[in-house]
Amino acid sequence: MTILIEHQPQFGIEVEEKKIPVDEKELVLHDGGFVAPVTNSFGQTFRDYDADGERQPGVENFYKINHFNQTYDFVRRMRQEYGKLNRVEMSIWECCELLNDVVDESDPDLDEPQIEHLLQTAEAIRRDYPNEDWLHLTGLIHDLGKVLLLPSFGGLPQWAVVGDTFPVGCAFDESIVHHKYFKGNPDFNNPAYNTKNGVYWEGCGLNNVYMSWGHDDYMYLVAKENKTTLPSAALFIIRYHSFYALHSSEAYKHLMNEEDAENLKWLQIFNKYDLYSKSKVRVDVEKVKPYYLSLIEKYFPAKLKW
Ligand SMILES: [Fe+2]
Ligand SMILES: [Fe+2]
Repeated sequence: MTILIEHQPQFGIEVEEKKIPVDEKELVLHDGGFVAPVTNSFGQTFRDYDADGERQPGVENFYKINHFNQTYDFVRRMRQEYGKLNRVEMSIWECCELLNDVVDESDPDLDEPQIEHLLQTAEAIRRDYPNEDWLHLTGLIHDLGKVLLLPSFGGLPQWAVVGDTFPVGCAFDESIVHHKYFKGNPDFNNPAYNTKNGVYWEGCGLNNVYMSWGHDDYMYLVAKENKTTLPSAALFIIRYHSFYALHSSEAYKHLMNEEDAENLKWLQIFNKYDLYSKSKVRVDVEKVKPYYLSLIEKYFPAKLKW
């Protein structure tokens, strides 16, 4: 299936899919609560973009292409196109299974099938917040938008699907990873888009802000347009979970409204699990599946438009 976008920009890198044999991993999620591990699957500290790791040159090059291409105009066109939700009809669980072969190249910590990461995140949250079932389900579904990498969803390149996200239409904050590469973005020198507020206004609310296009915003659109009954904090987590400039560096807070400030507290809780559950954890999929199916039934229609 091809994506129907006028003036589609050149996609600089190809999508690669890798598989890791499951027996290379071992169980490190301990009973009695979530334990934040110190190192990732490659033996390095988490989110260390300067580490001398085997994936490092790929990660820096990834951000170079990402920062060159994520413009205000690009984001608006992608939102309009993918907001049609006219590609596939399927359930949330079917989408989880579809993601099984996808590996996120932008992530220096994760080198395993996505379904493992989804269930690791959800199960780690469940252990520590047993009564917040909406947050368990948010853990399961937060990365489902990575189906954008698959040919049936347009086969978008990695830079248009994964990696840290940031607002477009206003100045790129210096806390954004590999900020120097924004100099190659046409918006960098456009006076309409390169001031602190840009096209937005103080306190406008993040739902009025265009974010760089990727799996976060796509899954947010899917959940919202299919009328999920998940609370607004869940939608906030889904849309901004890769927005590290906000939840780690406190940038762009001037664009937030009161509801955003409330929801940000949940995102900060969630983020700890999203990041640190990416370790050598094995989850018995068949054992936990009935619980997650019950949550999906509670908060989503049986089939969703994607
Ligand atoms: Fe993600
Ligand atoms: Fe994630």
